[in-house]
Amino acid sequence: MRKLSIMIFALCTLSFSALAQVTVEFSGNVQGDVKHVVVLVDDLDTLNGAAAVLDAETNGQLFKALKAQSFKTEVGSAAILFGIGNYDRVVVLGSAVESPMNAVDLQNLGGKIAKQIGVDLKEQNIVVHVDGLNTEHADAAAHIAYGYELQNYRFEKYKSDKKQSPGTLTFISAGVNEAESTYNNDLKFLAEGIYMTRDLASEPGKTIYPQAFVDAVKKKFKGIKNIDIDVLTLRDMKKNNMGALMGVGQGSIHEPKMLVIEYKGADNDDAPIALAGKGITFDTGGISLKRNSGMWAMKSDMSGAAAVAGTLYAVASRKENVNLVGLMPLAENMPAEDAIRPGDVLPTMKGTSIEIISTDAEGRLILADAVYYAQQEFKPRMLVNIATLTGSAARALSDEYAVVITRDWDLSVDMMGVGERSGEAVWPLPLHPNHFEQIKSDIADIKNSGAGNPGASIGAAVIGTFVDEDMTWVHLDIAGVDWITDVTDTVPKGSSGWGVRFMDQLVRDKK
Ligand code: BES
Ligand code: MN
Ligand code: ZN
Repeated sequence: MRKLSIMIFALCTLSFSALAQVTVEFSGNVQGDVKHVVVLVDDLDTLNGAAAVLDAETNGQLFKALKAQSFKTEVGSAAILFGIGNYDRVVVLGSAVESPMNAVDLQNLGGKIAKQIGVDLKEQNIVVHVDGLNTEHADAAAHIAYGYELQNYRFEKYKSDKKQSPGTLTFISAGVNEAESTYNNDLKFLAEGIYMTRDLASEPGKTIYPQAFVDAVKKKFKGIKNIDIDVLTLRDMKKNNMGALMGVGQGSIHEPKMLVIEYKGADNDDAPIALAGKGITFDTGGISLKRNSGMWAMKSDMSGAAAVAGTLYAVASRKENVNLVGLMPLAENMPAEDAIRPGDVLPTMKGTSIEIISTDAEGRLILADAVYYAQQEFKPRMLVNIATLTGSAARALSDEYAVVITRDWDLSVDMMGVGERSGEAVWPLPLHPNHFEQIKSDIADIKNSGAGNPGASIGAAVIGTFVDEDMTWVHLDIAGVDWITDVTDTVPKGSSGWGVRFMDQLVRDKK
């Protein structure tokens, strides 16, 4: 019987797409017969490094082909050449830059390489020559490989005809040890964390509901050291009086949960950094039902929680010297006879009552109880919450920036720096005393939405009501960046996994 239930568990739990599709290797020199090669060119008239070798080896065919198409050498230009020497395919990328390439520049270059190669590797061995770069990173090849992996992601689980096929990518560079160490002990885990986040966010609401999210994430964390996982059930929520979280979940046949993952990588008495992510496994709007157009996209309304899980996975796997706790309130927002109604009043763990103006403003409700619980239970030194919270944030900043809202400007500026270093940019919006005025309720302590504008700030004010005034608190609204329609270097179409890179960088900077 026990065996049977384990088998059923294994069958029911979702599995994640693996990086393993592509084998990444680092080496100082080429071995064996190579048919597919990538070279970087920063100066066409004086070819350097591998490009020069390849040109000599093919009696000047490389130079001729590039010259004939007036190849530009700046980063961003690319050419695919066939029939050069004995090679089946030579991919050339420009690598000339104005100023030295930082980690994110290198990662973007890796993404550009992936775009040229495509996901169908046909089991082949592709050699990427990393040389002649203007960068101070001895481990440049690792950053390029990481960027490659980020671009190489596809969610093809439900496709009969899968485009991705396995192959080997060998990066040839000078700093082999540096690259191997950075990739295998660090960046590989980030890529894996981002893959998990994207998988969870891409998965339909039918298969990802609160318990399914918990099971899938738990499975992924098996074997990782210094991890404690706790799942709050309805019973625990009742005990804590988490009326907001329970209220949002009550119209669904799937019970709400709160997944709490603690990573202890530093001294026991070091206060942790807390990350709380919105985990609405599907957002219909509830009784304040959303309109049909685009509602399918609300399957990714748990992107915040998924990013928290992905970040914890990366930080714990690379054994960062920090204490980190992730809180993922999970609920499905459904219209039903027992769902909450507009006009209802919900109690919260903090004791502040909330009048429901719109059941579609549900993310702030589950986060209200989550951030309060985070402070009570873990006394963090910093609290970050991340959520696909408002259409307003998406309209204001679109794809380029996630919204960051804090109580003090210096912290927001600080966060813009974290964004630049991580490759996931943020831009501040304000939090004004009037925003708190706007959410005063006639019959309860506060209401869950104001008169309308400014939506992103109002949402932050609701959550902020449950955050101590003197807490270092960062609110991230990712409604505009979590799902991408225009491919970037490091994000293919679909779920971006936004937040893993940002929060991982924040942990590096604040540890
Ligand atoms: N999950 C949505 C926000 C959202 C919108 C995310 C578009 C991604 C893309 C959120 O729960 C919501 O419905 N927000 C409302 C709040 C309003 C009712 C105060 C919104 O932004 O319209
Ligand atoms: Mn909603
Ligand atoms: Zn929502």
